[in-house]
Amino acid sequence: MPRLRKRVDMAIIEAHGLARTFRSRRGSVDAVRGVDLTVKQGEIVGFLGPNGAGKTTTLRMLTTLLRPTAGTATVAGADLLKDPLGVRRRIGYVPQAIGATAGGTDPNCQVGEELATQGRVYRLSARQAAERAGLLTGQLDLAGLERRQCKTLSGGQRRRLEIALGLIHSPVVLFLDEPTTGLDPQSRSNLWQHIRGLRERLGTTVFLTTHYLDEADALCDRVLVIDNGKIIAEGVPEELKRRISGDVVTLSVSRDPERAQAILSGQPGVREIAAEGRAIRMTVTHGEEALPAMLRALDADGIAMESIQLARPTLDDVFLTLTGRSLRDDSPSATAGDAAQRTPRS
Ligand SMILES: Nc1ncnc2c1ncn2[C@@H]1O[C@H](COP(=O)(O)OP(=O)(O)OP(=O)(O)O)[C@@H](O)[C@H]1O
Ligand SMILES: [Mg+2]
Repeated sequence: MPRLRKRVDMAIIEAHGLARTFRSRRGSVDAVRGVDLTVKQGEIVGFLGPNGAGKTTTLRMLTTLLRPTAGTATVAGADLLKDPLGVRRRIGYVPQAIGATAGGTDPNCQVGEELATQGRVYRLSARQAAERAGLLTGQLDLAGLERRQCKTLSGGQRRRLEIALGLIHSPVVLFLDEPTTGLDPQSRSNLWQHIRGLRERLGTTVFLTTHYLDEADALCDRVLVIDNGKIIAEGVPEELKRRISGDVVTLSVSRDPERAQAILSGQPGVREIAAEGRAIRMTVTHGEEALPAMLRALDADGIAMESIQLARPTLDDVFLTLTGRSLRDDSPSATAGDAAQRTPRS
């Protein structure tokens, strides 16, 4: 069905040469320096980069809040420069939270009132707004909190309310700026589940920024890595990790590690290889696919394998390879989550 395929592959965000320079008397900052990107309908795309990389600036341009210095874009079928109102009608935007208590909500307003007001902003009838609010409070785990003042919500509840506010008018694209910053690990993974649910239930396209590697890895179909205002890499997280670093395979052999190393270094896809005691550690392009042939080659020489470990490189390794800098210092999961990422996955 070619028509259907065309629809599924349709670009919902397309930007060319998007740039923004901030000028002041003290000088100018090239915050975004020529970003090209395409997001397909129904994709969850992560914009990953360290502090000051240009993520928020790009998002603010794509959501019409900031005029680009250069470049063009279409968002949900509307031209960013010629039809900003058209863009605004079709998108939802949840800005980056500033501090623990700030955000897009009125602290003294009740949750239900906030949703109704937001509905009015988008010209929904009172009935439509109530229906949407009912649906969203259910889907985002806010049911029962309608009469609570926004200031009494927990960080996770407030973030979910902000997302509900961004979704009240059933946008086709949702922009989320650092959706889980400041949340505890459980609230983060709950929110990931809600974001996935949006796509599954409603087909919403989600474009989010993050500087958390585990978030990009766990949630996104595709990742764009931005640094110093430019996209420096893009791909499916798994692919990106492979392309840059390969898999790390560690084999422990029964005897003769030097001989084993010589055999293994001739195998396809093997890059760096080193022996330490009876363990041989190597970087392999497609670890899982290369393993059977490696084991056969060792076996043919009478060398038995005692243990095997396959570890995927993390997105942090990717970032390090690309920029020479680590992202890990920025991540709240630097201690707990990162250790989990480094354990080999089956
Ligand atoms: N209004 C502004 N005036 C001057 N410079 C700005 C302005 N807004 C952003 N910048 C600068 O532009 C660069 C990119 O900022 P941006 O907020 O887009 O980064 P970010 O990737 O969202 O970072 P973070 O992870 O900290 O949110 C930074 O150097 C920032 O200081
Ligand atoms: Mg930002």
